[in-house]
Amino acid sequence: MNVPKIVKMKGKEKIVMATAYDAPTARILQDAGIDIILVGDSLGNNVLGYDSTIPVTMEEMLIHVKAVRRGADNAFIVADMPFLSYGVSVEEGIKNAGLFMKAGANAVKLEGGREFSELIGKLISIGIPVMGHLGFTPQSLNVVGGYKVRGKATEEKERLLEDASILEETGVFSIVLEMVIENVAKEVTETISIPTIGIGSGRYCDGQVLVFHDIVGLNPDFKPKFAKRYMNAYEEMLKAVSQFKDEVKNRTFPAEEHKF
Ligand code: KIV
Ligand code: NA
Repeated sequence: MNVPKIVKMKGKEKIVMATAYDAPTARILQDAGIDIILVGDSLGNNVLGYDSTIPVTMEEMLIHVKAVRRGADNAFIVADMPFLSYGVSVEEGIKNAGLFMKAGANAVKLEGGREFSELIGKLISIGIPVMGHLGFTPQSLNVVGGYKVRGKATEEKERLLEDASILEETGVFSIVLEMVIENVAKEVTETISIPTIGIGSGRYCDGQVLVFHDIVGLNPDFKPKFAKRYMNAYEEMLKAVSQFKDEVKNRTFPAEEHKF
C-alpha cells in the first residue's frame, strides 16, 4: 500500500482503516488485510487510561508507533500527531512529524483545516504525506464542549466543505471525517477528489475507520452508536483469565502435559 494507491481507490474500492497501538494487534490487522493502520492518539483513551486524547505526548506516541511497525513490517502506517505536537509552531510540527517518519510511519495525521495549511504544505514538500481530520476533532473537546455531531448548522457545513477543499489543495492524500452528519459527509466526499475516511459519518465516505478496541469490544464501558462490535473481547478475555485463576486454585493447571 502507498499514497497513490490509496488516492486511486476512491470511487473503486472502499478503504479500510483501523487503529493499532501495539505489535500483536498490528500483526492481526496486517494479516486481515486492513488497508491502513492508524496509530491514533486514541491511544490515550484505549490503552493509557486517560479520559481524553489531550494528555498524550510525542514520547508515548513514538513508543507505540515503533511497536506497531515491529508487528506489521509491510503495513501502511499513519501516526496521529498528538495535542501540542503541531499547534505551537510550524518548526515544531515539522520536527515532530519527522520523528514519526523515522520511527517507521508512512504518513502523519493531524486535526484541523485551513489553520494548518502552511504546516501541511511544508510537510508534504519535504516528503511527509499528510492525512487530514475534520468534523468532530477530539483534541478540541474543551472548545467544542463535548462529543458533538458536526455539519448540522449551515455555517458549520459550509466551513467543513471549504476546509476539505483547502486541505485537498494543500495536498493531503485523504481526510478523516469524524461524526459528520451523513448527508454532509456525502457532499464532502462528492466535492473533493481525494478519499474521505469516515467514523460516525455514515455510509457514503470512501472508506471507514474504527478503533480496534471498539471492533472487538475490549472496553465494556464504551459502546458508541457509530461503532459495531464484531465480538465481545472483554467477556472472552475475562472468561479465559478467570478459568486460569480457577484452575490454579483447584490444582488442575499445570497438568501432566505442561511439566518438564
Ligand atoms: O485517534 C484515533 O483513533 C482517530 C480515529 C478515530 C480516526 O483519530
Ligand atoms: Na486521533
